[in-house]
Amino acid sequence: ASVAEPVTNVPSRMQNLEEADRLVDQSPAQALALMEQILEKDPHNALALYGRARSLDSLAEVERSNARLEQSIFAYRAVLDLEDQVDDQLYHKSALRCIDRMRFRGFHGKAIRIQQRLVARFPDDIEYQNQLAVGFLLTNQPEAARTILEGVLNRWPNSGFAQVHLGFILKTTYDDYDAGARWMMAGIASREEGVIDGRFYSHLGDALTRLGKHEEAQRIYADGAKEGVFRSHDQRSLYNVDRLTAQPWWDKEATTYGPFFDLLEANWRQIRNEGVALLTLESPEGFANESEKLRDSGDWKQFELFAQGRKNAAHCIKAPVTCTLIENYPPALCKRGQVKFSIMHPGTHVWPHTGPTNCRLRAHLGLVVPSGAKLRVGNTIKSWEEGKFIVFDDSFDHEVWHNGSSYRLVLIVDLWHPELTTDEWQSLAPI
Ligand code: LMR
Ligand code: MN
Repeated sequence: ASVAEPVTNVPSRMQNLEEADRLVDQSPAQALALMEQILEKDPHNALALYGRARSLDSLAEVERSNARLEQSIFAYRAVLDLEDQVDDQLYHKSALRCIDRMRFRGFHGKAIRIQQRLVARFPDDIEYQNQLAVGFLLTNQPEAARTILEGVLNRWPNSGFAQVHLGFILKTTYDDYDAGARWMMAGIASREEGVIDGRFYSHLGDALTRLGKHEEAQRIYADGAKEGVFRSHDQRSLYNVDRLTAQPWWDKEATTYGPFFDLLEANWRQIRNEGVALLTLESPEGFANESEKLRDSGDWKQFELFAQGRKNAAHCIKAPVTCTLIENYPPALCKRGQVKFSIMHPGTHVWPHTGPTNCRLRAHLGLVVPSGAKLRVGNTIKSWEEGKFIVFDDSFDHEVWHNGSSYRLVLIVDLWHPELTTDEWQSLAPI
């Protein structure tokens, strides 16, 4: 009997496995039980381990359960732990699904360790290395991504995917506009999958602008519009709702928010007093330097009152009148915008840039307005007036200068684009 057993058992186990495999999608709980039966006798059976992972994966979706999802993640990893006992195809399938589920669960660091195992097992596969670099970027490790991409480009100098990503990192992390622009330019020209992307066109144009190559930058923006990554050459936001009216400047009345603007304008002195008082507080730590590297020169700081439609309570205590006026007006509680005091000192130049979304309009209430400060949106330059709003769409190219001799203070209020419905206010992801 002891000799005969494996001979009769193996085919029946194989049969079970096929049966179990068919069951995974229809009845994952049953499939799981069958897989576990097989594994009890044959714990290193790669197909059964994989089947177990797939069953748990299905169950996680049915039950909408994170605990199940985590079990499935560990089950996929158990397939990988078989190392040489699992064939390349199954290893590859398990690893990709494992990474996908880890990212879905927010386990980005764990996902990277699986990606590193893929690179180690398949060292000649460029795709795994490029994807590992993306993993490092997603986890905010641009230095590590850079190292991988430089290795890829040493071996595969024409990888457009590696080129755009390396250029992006050199531009955004290392402020190397020259090398960054050259790599992004080359990468885009390859037209490989993944390179025709608004982020690359946008940072390439910006790098060229900062290098003084304005005509080249304009050509890149025009190309981006032609490729459909931008709504137009001048409107380069990346998170858009397509049907919305698009124009650089808005008439206050045309926004439908006229009564709100009137109310704040009627109270502008109190708003100004709150802003000015903040500036002279003993610890003005609430004013933060503008954080997106938009400043060419000078000094430009912001005091945030609302972000993504939520009140900054600690800050609002210090500007109660302003915050109450905002809070009582739902269109100004825009999840894709902010409300903030913005102070700009003489000698400031803000590089041309665009906001992230076309879903908001940006209104500026002039509070302290010396001469010499001006704002270009699209092709039109305007200035502020104390106690008056100006309204623009910051998804359009805009640029700011302050060449006066004392500070300029404005209240910035982002409002939902008037053509969005209140359902869309709910459903659009915050920015
Ligand atoms: C901007 O929104 O980019 C600027 O106009 C902000 C400011 O303070 O002028
Ligand atoms: Mn801006």
